Amino acid sequence: MNWTRTIGTCAAMCVLGAAALSVAAQTKPEAGDAAAGSEQNWWKNAVIYEIYPRSFQDSNGDGIGDLNGITERLDYLKELGVDAIWLTPCYPSPQVDFGYDVSDYKNIDPQYGTLKDFDRLIKEADKRHIRILMDMVMNHTSDKHKWFIQSRSSRTNSYRDWYVWHDGKGETATDKGDVPNNWQSDFGHSAWEWDEKTRQYYYHKFYIQQPDVNWDNPKIHAAFKDIIGFWLKRGVGGFRFDAITTLFEDPQMRDEEVLLDKDGKSYLNDYGDIAENDTRTNNLPTNHAVMQEMRAWSDTFDSPKFPGTRLLIGETYVPTIADLAAEYGTPDKPEFQLPMDTQVGFIDKLDIDQFRSKLNDVETAINGNVPLLVFTNHDRPRLDLRYGDGIHDDNIARVIATMLFASRGSSLFYYGDEIGMKTTPPTRKEDVKDPVGITGWPNDKGRDGERTPMQWDAEPNAGFSKAGVKTWLPVPPNSTEINVKAEEGKPDSLFTWYQTLIRLKKTVPALASGENVMLDTTNTKVLSWVRQTAGAPSVVIATNFTAEPQTVSLSVAGASGSVKTLLKTPGAADPSSIASIQLGPFGVYIGELQ
Ligand code: GLC
Ligand code: CA
Repeated sequence: MNWTRTIGTCAAMCVLGAAALSVAAQTKPEAGDAAAGSEQNWWKNAVIYEIYPRSFQDSNGDGIGDLNGITERLDYLKELGVDAIWLTPCYPSPQVDFGYDVSDYKNIDPQYGTLKDFDRLIKEADKRHIRILMDMVMNHTSDKHKWFIQSRSSRTNSYRDWYVWHDGKGETATDKGDVPNNWQSDFGHSAWEWDEKTRQYYYHKFYIQQPDVNWDNPKIHAAFKDIIGFWLKRGVGGFRFDAITTLFEDPQMRDEEVLLDKDGKSYLNDYGDIAENDTRTNNLPTNHAVMQEMRAWSDTFDSPKFPGTRLLIGETYVPTIADLAAEYGTPDKPEFQLPMDTQVGFIDKLDIDQFRSKLNDVETAINGNVPLLVFTNHDRPRLDLRYGDGIHDDNIARVIATMLFASRGSSLFYYGDEIGMKTTPPTRKEDVKDPVGITGWPNDKGRDGERTPMQWDAEPNAGFSKAGVKTWLPVPPNSTEINVKAEEGKPDSLFTWYQTLIRLKKTVPALASGENVMLDTTNTKVLSWVRQTAGAPSVVIATNFTAEPQTVSLSVAGASGSVKTLLKTPGAADPSSIASIQLGPFGVYIGELQ
């Protein structure tokens, strides 16, 4: 799935030299398509907030976040301006991969509450016009799921072909032989696990305790449709489909290609395995038919008055913009309304050429569909480690948030971004909770660092849990300074920056639905663009990608250049014309053309 987790040394400061941009004009989005406020189009200009339930708010003092905790914080999310919450899995689970190993898809894990608590969350969220999106894990189940317990019980069990079983190479009655091929797990080592009782290997793209289900079996399709229907009937607004590009594997079982370094030699990855491509087990074209099927099914749960309002988001780490465009499907056979664009947000350094070209791709090369930009999630270090320089992290966070919210489309971000939470990885192997960190230590310390408890206030346990409670991951010591209470209502805080950007996105027509056009495209220091829609003033945006002050001179055809400030980095001057905009280190300016 290609999550590259290791942080390069170049970080934010790698601003590359100018490269002339040749941008093919392709299909243009329909102007005004995302008319703000329309029920049917809610997802076209939406702000979606990812919550890791374990880490958001502990309401019962056991050190683990829960659903009632989320319900308690809905007013906060309303104040911030979110339209929908994506909850990472809260189904019953042995928690080997913290919920991504589901043992029962139609219930809530007692650690997080009950179905009744869930219904209350939906109801309370609905009162605030916030939708709840569930995480749908369809590539694999937990090895403790009853389907797998059946499947592994004997070769003739009726669930045997619900999973991917295979003989070993050269297996005999006494020798298990070798693994069927060289496929590797994304969590390290062989993707094949030997099952002594039935003497076959099963396939797991992720952890050993996450056996892949067999999507060639029609019963799997029916089972997941049933599960999806169960939650849609309960009132969820839609789903985020987990690891969705990994449903199918090469039917011929061919080996993955071994990657070679610049000297033509194979090399080891962070897990100490021979580095491989994963084209035989990821992004196979057969995935699309499943998504067409699930989308058609999900659409049947809409009210006839508002078709298409149940939202399907995809975890679509795909290599090219053409692959991303394909994830939307076609008008006849739609797939995701919003496949995540992981190409912009995971560039992982403030490289202006890459941002310019990838933001332009998502505007021009996805057949007029709505982009879903995302920079952060529970699988990646937070912004500080991927984009920060340790000195200007708050301003850099403002630059990122500006690209996220002031570009056309919908925006997805991760709890704590709005207050500038930092990555806090474990320092000792014995403290690691994430399976990735357990296998990858010390090269890869895993994902605990981006999953620490939400920092609400400066009290012990940061308002996440009661003082004195041992929280499932430690509360970062910086919570005494970085917390919601310290930032809410403060004009210059990062929280206020997020809140203001979100409000502008909702209320300024050009920002709600205008097309994005890049400006000043040979500038190597400042990324600028204009949002324009018929019948409303255009909005220009300039973001300084450097630690030095910059002045930019912009021009927009047909506009005098006089401008009214909508938002600017604290302390910056108001320009009278876009012909001369001054920006401080990593400064941002947003203004409406007059
Ligand atoms: C996705 C999730 C990740 C999980 C994996 C396996 O990538 O985001 O957290 O470990 O799928 O389900
Ligand atoms: Ca699979």
